[in-house]
Amino acid sequence: MFRFILLAFSLSLLACNSSDKTEEAYRLASPNGNNVFQFQLENGVPAYSVRHKDIEVLSPSKMGFVFRDNDSLHKNFKITDVEETTFDETWEQVWGEKKEIRNHYNQLSVKLQEKSEKERKLEIQFRAFDDGVAFRYIFPEQDLNDSIFIMDELTTFNLKEDGKAWWIPAYREQRYEYLFENSPVSSLDTVHTPLTIESKNGLTLSFHEANLTDFASMTLAASEQTLKADLVPWSDGVKVRTTGSFTTPWRTLQIGETPKDLITSYLILNLNEPNKIEDTSWIKPYKYLGIWWGMHIGKYTFWEGENQGATTKNAKGHIDYAKQLEVDHLLIEGWNKGWTPQWYESAMHQFSFTKEADNFDLEEVTDYAAENDVRIIGYHETGSNINNYLEQIDSAFALYNKVGIHDVKIGHVGSKLNMEEWHHGQFGVNYFRYVLKKAAEYNLTVLFHEPIKDTGERRTYPNMMAREGARGIEYNAWSEGNPPSHVTILPFTRFLGGPMDFTAGILDVEISQGYDGRRVHSTAAKQLALLVTVFSPIQMLADLPENYIDKPEFQFLKDVPTNWEDTKVINGEIGKYITTARKDLNSDDWYLGSITNEESREFQISLDFLEEGDYEAQIYADTKGTGLNNNPEAIEISNKRVSAKDKLKLKLGESGGAAIRFKKL
Ligand code: NOJ
Repeated sequence: MFRFILLAFSLSLLACNSSDKTEEAYRLASPNGNNVFQFQLENGVPAYSVRHKDIEVLSPSKMGFVFRDNDSLHKNFKITDVEETTFDETWEQVWGEKKEIRNHYNQLSVKLQEKSEKERKLEIQFRAFDDGVAFRYIFPEQDLNDSIFIMDELTTFNLKEDGKAWWIPAYREQRYEYLFENSPVSSLDTVHTPLTIESKNGLTLSFHEANLTDFASMTLAASEQTLKADLVPWSDGVKVRTTGSFTTPWRTLQIGETPKDLITSYLILNLNEPNKIEDTSWIKPYKYLGIWWGMHIGKYTFWEGENQGATTKNAKGHIDYAKQLEVDHLLIEGWNKGWTPQWYESAMHQFSFTKEADNFDLEEVTDYAAENDVRIIGYHETGSNINNYLEQIDSAFALYNKVGIHDVKIGHVGSKLNMEEWHHGQFGVNYFRYVLKKAAEYNLTVLFHEPIKDTGERRTYPNMMAREGARGIEYNAWSEGNPPSHVTILPFTRFLGGPMDFTAGILDVEISQGYDGRRVHSTAAKQLALLVTVFSPIQMLADLPENYIDKPEFQFLKDVPTNWEDTKVINGEIGKYITTARKDLNSDDWYLGSITNEESREFQISLDFLEEGDYEAQIYADTKGTGLNNNPEAIEISNKRVSAKDKLKLKLGESGGAAIRFKKL
């Protein structure tokens, strides 16, 4: 289904002209009229503001750039052209949380030119959607032979009201892997996006960017209620280097009347370019087991030695488990040369991406996997030594092609790439895009760990499956872990950017074979529910496979799909709870996941999201009395015949959950 309308229509122009002051203003409303941009040029200085219905969300905010030598591009402009258009199409995702996505917006394109000697041109495009607004700058080719060095982007987001911000800090060693904190906007320092704010005006706002291509990532620096774009610099302080022209990513603001509205907003995807990969038949969502959790809990080592995880023997044993459990993919970390206990300490560590570790025979393992209908996921840990990785990338990907590997996880442990550049700077942005495109040439899907943030590139390159980029389950294995509220915050913040490989599904939440005092801070039923509340086209069933054998609740992990026809958020409060329902792409079944923070809760869930007819609800819930510190692994499984007219009572223990399959009868 494809619908497209493009037309130019008359603009609402508000102009005022007096001898010492000129002002031109243009208004752009979203298709339903609720979100409104106003652009104004006052005495040659551009500014914009945003309203939602009768609420002023952003007061006049700044626009422009500073180039090298304090050369600024932000004033003394005249308007040379203004055009308003509208666009409406429905496009299909190759995979996703919803099959069909409507992209409906009105656009205002304003062309500016400096009145001063240089007469430089700058275009600003504004788009107003029903779920938010966005704008970007285009600095067109204009016979300026110089290289361009952007030293600062002057964009501000001038919040009319303060609010509660959900944030993680920027410019830190652990990149994007921090626990979200909650504090007033006016108290923030410099933070990553998506930045979600529960505003005093009652709206929930999320600031982010879309289509981050050949540019530095935007972080946000707060000063009172004003957020300012803070581009992540190169090591020499330049923010963006380019020649001739540049187009910035879209600066986005999603606007929800409730927090859950943000989750079913597809504005970020809509602002990315359509799919560029012609034949997508090789790109398939999947679930997987791994030789992975065992390393994190200390059962195996990543490196060669007595307890080495990645041996031919152990890999074959895991292939047998995958076959028995009917999970079609298996990740094997540590199969290659270079893993040593010190690898993460040493500067520019050299991994080989083609030589096998002792005791590991790649071809023997991949042949055995093929015989058993299991697909191996390759793993490349770069240690952030990008030079070393890029020297080997072609031969490494060619090797995977040769042995029938179609999916690769690529890690970037280290606080700087090549010990020099922030992951989120322009260098990192271009590096991650290069690897993604290179992987597509080899028909490989990609799972990035220690990545840059997601800005919706999966629409353009659907081999971009998921990124870890946040504190996943692994933190529970070797640190104080993630508190119960963590997974009730991520859907309203980090996941707004895109899918995450969260590595859930731990049934042995007290980690019987792990380090003293370490555990997963949830009940086992909550671990099942995460497979629905976290969207990712690839989901790891992260526990040791032996912990799944003969467990009736494994049935839910086996059944739950990773590719969906539709998604509905039933309820949710940031940091407290969330209930999500999703419809399977390949059947008439629905699935529901409900999770809570450290508080137990009861919900009456209306099943009106179901279609006509009866369903068998297969319910996996905390047993009576189960909670974080009481019998957390106990799951009660029950069945019930239900229809859309029914309501279902859910009882979640402390840090508990419920997972339901609604099987169409
Ligand atoms: C951190 C990654 O998040 C994890 O998945 C991986 O196992 C380790 N690095 C080792 O590469």
